[in-house]
Amino acid sequence: MESSRLMELLSHRIQLAHLPTPIQFMPRISDLLGVRLYIKRDDLTESIASGNKIRKLEYLMADALKSGADTVVSYGGIQSNHCRAVAWAAAKLGLSCVLALRGDAPDHWDGNLLLDHLLGADVRFFPKALFNDPDQLDSNLMREIRNAGKAPYSIPIGGSNATGTLGYVHMVGELADSGVRFDHLYHALGSGGTYAGMWLGCRLHAIESRVHGIAVCDDIGYFMTELARIRLDFQKKYQMDVDFSGADQLMDDRYVGIGYALNTGTELNELVRFARLEGLVLDPVYTLKAFLGMVDHIRTGIVSPGQTVLFIHTGGHAGLFPKHAEFEKLMV
Ligand SMILES: Cc1ncc(COP(=O)(O)O)c(C=O)c1O
Repeated sequence: MESSRLMELLSHRIQLAHLPTPIQFMPRISDLLGVRLYIKRDDLTESIASGNKIRKLEYLMADALKSGADTVVSYGGIQSNHCRAVAWAAAKLGLSCVLALRGDAPDHWDGNLLLDHLLGADVRFFPKALFNDPDQLDSNLMREIRNAGKAPYSIPIGGSNATGTLGYVHMVGELADSGVRFDHLYHALGSGGTYAGMWLGCRLHAIESRVHGIAVCDDIGYFMTELARIRLDFQKKYQMDVDFSGADQLMDDRYVGIGYALNTGTELNELVRFARLEGLVLDPVYTLKAFLGMVDHIRTGIVSPGQTVLFIHTGGHAGLFPKHAEFEKLMV
């Protein structure tokens, strides 16, 4: 990997997030699990735009502005944290925002969808089948926006391309500066960009921690295809060769549970337990499943007793609110 080129790309950023985020030691959960557990509080990157996506958007929005765009376009599920962060970043920078969401318009606005509307995004709903061919959906929407006299910039699902990936290469610089040596890093795999950035960042900073990605949807094959796509994007956009070989050994797809964004009562009870034990409030869609995967790795010896572990809290709290009825059922 060409480190000097990567360092140079890291400077193509606009500041949107509050960085560096804190790294907090969790004494009670550490005692419970038998490891030294720290949390990287990327849920504190911003308030309304909190979470991991804003780090990617520091690079994507810089690129959008450089291209002369007046509109950003992106894609995701109805409760997409990424789309909510795009809507915020567009409002912050005075750009228009078009969001193409997967599925039928729900009867009520809640969680991230409420925030999308509040931030003034042009929210559109498309049948799920159209998302099977995202390139076609994108070229149709971009053509329509261009025909309306606007200059759109397209951001893929989850912000996961070479440009967005730089956000998590940058994050690893904060780990290098922290002075703590972590044996294991854990986070949720949704579209793969966070993983790709952490993988490259660890190589850039010669950090030897094992980077574990716990899938919350799909399987390892899918994520390796996504990494191959990001690799190709590095070649095409930056004429740079990056290498993700071996990443499949550190991804785990056994904790998706009953499906993406779906939770069992057992999982939600665990969320409540960690919230009450040490104020660690996870989101039900991403960080809860990744955290429970990490706990299982500790239980089964993938992480050895006493090792130092960093869990990246990638945000997603707006996803708690559409699940209020499930929590009410558990807790009354
Ligand atoms: C809260 C949260 N955590 C983790 C992820 C996963 O990140 P990535 O899409 O980069 O794999 C996402 C997005 O999908 C997210 O919204």
